[in-house]
Amino acid sequence: MKAFAEAPCKAIITGEHFVVHGAWALAAAVERRVRVEACEAEELVIESDGHRSSDSSKKRLAPVAKVVTKISEELRFNPRVLIRIASQVPESSGLGSSAATMVAVALALTKLKGMDLGTSETSRYAMAGETAIHGRPSGIDINICATGGVIMDRMGEEAKKVRFAGSRRFLIVQSGTKRSTRTLIDRVSRMKLKYPGLFAGLANSASLISELAATRLVNGDMQELGRLLTYSHAVLSTVGASTPKLDRLVDLLLALGCYGAKLTGAGGGGSVFAIPREGSTDALIAELKSRGYESFQTNVPCEGVKSWLQ
Ligand code: MEV
Repeated sequence: MKAFAEAPCKAIITGEHFVVHGAWALAAAVERRVRVEACEAEELVIESDGHRSSDSSKKRLAPVAKVVTKISEELRFNPRVLIRIASQVPESSGLGSSAATMVAVALALTKLKGMDLGTSETSRYAMAGETAIHGRPSGIDINICATGGVIMDRMGEEAKKVRFAGSRRFLIVQSGTKRSTRTLIDRVSRMKLKYPGLFAGLANSASLISELAATRLVNGDMQELGRLLTYSHAVLSTVGASTPKLDRLVDLLLALGCYGAKLTGAGGGGSVFAIPREGSTDALIAELKSRGYESFQTNVPCEGVKSWLQ
């Protein structure tokens, strides 16, 4: 018997980085998924994109092993399992592939052992792996991959689901530059040390922007939401989360008619989140491809993690 789990990747709509320092952020699950397969084995083996580890100390797969060990110790079962991971998005692309992986691993493993974990337990176990990778993440990536849909999230509080009728269409453009979330969290945190008063003001305004953005999203006012995104990009750029290449990509998307665009996630490369004008998405994707950028459309809200036996 095998257990499977699939978790969506994510985009942060507003509030990234400031959420690490207590602000509200708005995040959405996106239509790219990580699939995890789990079955009984003679020892703990983790396979991911051609990497295989039967030695849990191997660096790349150690965070996944951490999740497996934590769950098996707390829930008292043997961790001799084979875990196979397949992701539709590359690592370090700002779309939360590590969070989606940890969430799907927690759910597939417990499903295999005959348990159905709730969202908060899934998130708690997944955090063990996420912390091992990113240092001190806020937990927003894990929360959105576990719940799906759209959430308002703040550290230390239960994520609030943002519900609305119908769906909204966004564009995600991959810059092609990989980066480390841990390094970027540290870089932005240094700005807080350097300019504490200014940073506190920006964190407050990030909370307000996230509230406004949630309202615009619910009302379907994509033009206004776009303005909030572009403004947020400028702020993130000011605190060191952007790069000249990302700034140029945002400018390009605006020049091509998008209502707004910004880096999403930690920045430093990764991906850009944009709002295309109605009816322009296919042409935009083709234009971006001709300029060397991979992009895809995602409908929001989309489903959270799910698991099944086969
Ligand atoms: C990464 O998707 C979002 C950051 O705010 C880090 C975090 O919240 O853990 C940059």
